[in-house]
Amino acid sequence: MRVALMILLGLVIGVIGTVNVMNALAARNPMPKAVMDTMGYHIGELKQALKAKQCNTPATRHHLARLQSTASDIVPVFGIEEKAFTDDATQLQTRLQQAVQAAPATCEALAAAIQPVGETCKSCHQQYR
Ligand code: HEC
Repeated sequence: MRVALMILLGLVIGVIGTVNVMNALAARNPMPKAVMDTMGYHIGELKQALKAKQCNTPATRHHLARLQSTASDIVPVFGIEEKAFTDDATQLQTRLQQAVQAAPATCEALAAAIQPVGETCKSCHQQYR
C-alpha cells in the first residue's frame, strides 16, 4: 500500500512538473522578440549611417537586405492572424522590398527609403505592442 502511494505521488509530481516546464517554455518563446530585436538592430545601424553621413556602403545595403528577410519571419513567428496585423506585416515587406530595389546611393535617398518603413513599424506597434 505504501509503495503504491509513493508511486502515485511520484507520478502526480511528475505530471505537475511537466506541465510547469511546458508553460515556462511556451511563455519564453524567444522568436517574436528575437525577430523584432533583429529588425531594431538593423534600423538602428541605418540611422547611425545617416548620422555619420556614410550611406552608400555595402553595410547599408546589408542592413536593408537583412531587414527585408527578417520581416518575412513576422507572420509565421507571431502566429497572430488578425487582418490588421498581417496587413501591416505585408506592408512592411512591400516597403522594404521597394527600399532594397531603390538601392539608395545618397543619405537623402536612404532617408527617403526608410521613412515609410519606420511608419509601418510604428503603425503596428501602436496597435499590437
Ligand atoms: C506586424 C506588426 C509589427 C511590425 C510591422 C513591426 N513590429 Fe516590432 N513589435 C511588434 C510586436 C507585437 C511587438 C511586441 C513583442 C513582444 O513584446 O513580444 C514588437 C516589439 C518590437 C521591439 C521590442 C522587442 C523587445 O525586445 O521587446 C522592437 C525593437 C521592434 N518591435 C522593432 C521593430 C522595427 C524596427 C520594425 C520595423 C522595421 C517593427 N518592429 C515592425 C509588432 C510589429
